[in-house]
Amino acid sequence: MADLGTDHVSDVPVVVVGGGPAGLMLTHLLARAGVESIAVDTRTRHEIETTHRAGILEAGAARDLVETGVSDRILRDGHEHEGTELRFDGRAHRIHFKELVGESVWLYPQTDVFIDLADARARDGGTVHFGISDTEVLDIETDHPRVRFTAEDGARHEIRARYVVGADGSRSMCRDLVPEGRRHRFAKEYPFAWFGILAEAPMSAPELVYAQSEHGFALISQRTETVQRMYFQCDPDEDVDSWPDERIWETLQARVAGEDGFRLKEGPVFEKTVLRFRSFVQQPMRWGSMCLAGDAAHTVPPTGARGLNLALHDVKVLADVLTRALGTGDDAVLEEYQPRALQRVWRAQNFSYWMTQLLHTAPGTGDFDHRRQVGELDNVVGTRAGRTYLAEQYTGWPTRES
Ligand code: PHB
Repeated sequence: MADLGTDHVSDVPVVVVGGGPAGLMLTHLLARAGVESIAVDTRTRHEIETTHRAGILEAGAARDLVETGVSDRILRDGHEHEGTELRFDGRAHRIHFKELVGESVWLYPQTDVFIDLADARARDGGTVHFGISDTEVLDIETDHPRVRFTAEDGARHEIRARYVVGADGSRSMCRDLVPEGRRHRFAKEYPFAWFGILAEAPMSAPELVYAQSEHGFALISQRTETVQRMYFQCDPDEDVDSWPDERIWETLQARVAGEDGFRLKEGPVFEKTVLRFRSFVQQPMRWGSMCLAGDAAHTVPPTGARGLNLALHDVKVLADVLTRALGTGDDAVLEEYQPRALQRVWRAQNFSYWMTQLLHTAPGTGDFDHRRQVGELDNVVGTRAGRTYLAEQYTGWPTRES
């Protein structure tokens, strides 16, 4: 029976606020464990599909997507990278992940992960409401939380559940529901941002190139044989309209230039965005009947390519914990979630911060700072311990069992 002002009432064990990769992977894993759930998102599917995000998946995350039946497209359209390049002082240094730690990573854009997950949910008959509005998350301090919203077609919905998961991204509304006096927010701002472009051009390198130079940082990534993704460090208030293609290419070329004569293959730029970033963690990751996952609980600078991987790790742990809590009726199982997720979160916070300071030029720093940074980079690439440290962090860590 519908409440006054409610057209549809549903009852499911888990309702997930957020239909990005974290939210959809969680509903997919829950469905495989026989637990029904519904995901909702204020964005339309089209909006999520056309927002460009990072592109590196740990081998473990790629395996999970393939082995749990999301998609094997990653094996066809993705590119396995056994290493990455660090460029500084005008020279290239390869970190051979596979040789150092026996792991690789996959270049497969987050938008494709999302498309695969959304298709898999549709294929498996899962319910996802995209494009919702007026979202309210209610009664999380009780055993019967609810989510109310207006669907894209204007109908009013109420979803009653046993647990709510806030996987609603870096501008999460769910995390604000943890009372102010009971939550702690750890945050760090950076005095720079990334200018991200997509260009129609051939690949300039077979793997990612992370470049440090006295002009600042640049990252050379790829999308397809004909579309390339690149970034360079810029001011957080940079205006993309003051960057014609010529100026972009000049800036990127200067940051990767070196005695080996390396040059980027240029082409028309068809997308330009300034990406601001910060390091952020909110604790606790559980409050009453609500758990936070992915960017809603923590964000990292994109330098270490950890964001999506961390979110996928959270939901893997969460799917396990929620399934057991529902199966046993024992709420206490949920207490395992934060310690199992958080160790990796802080490791990734450290790694992302470390990679960022290693490669960027902070405004106001002088030639001492630049030479010291080159010394640190030299320690990383010039010692097996340094290379192994980077390789281990970049390719991910094993999941802590409990
Ligand atoms: C990307 O391809 O968009 C990308 C790759 C690695 C990063 C960040 C972004 O660290």
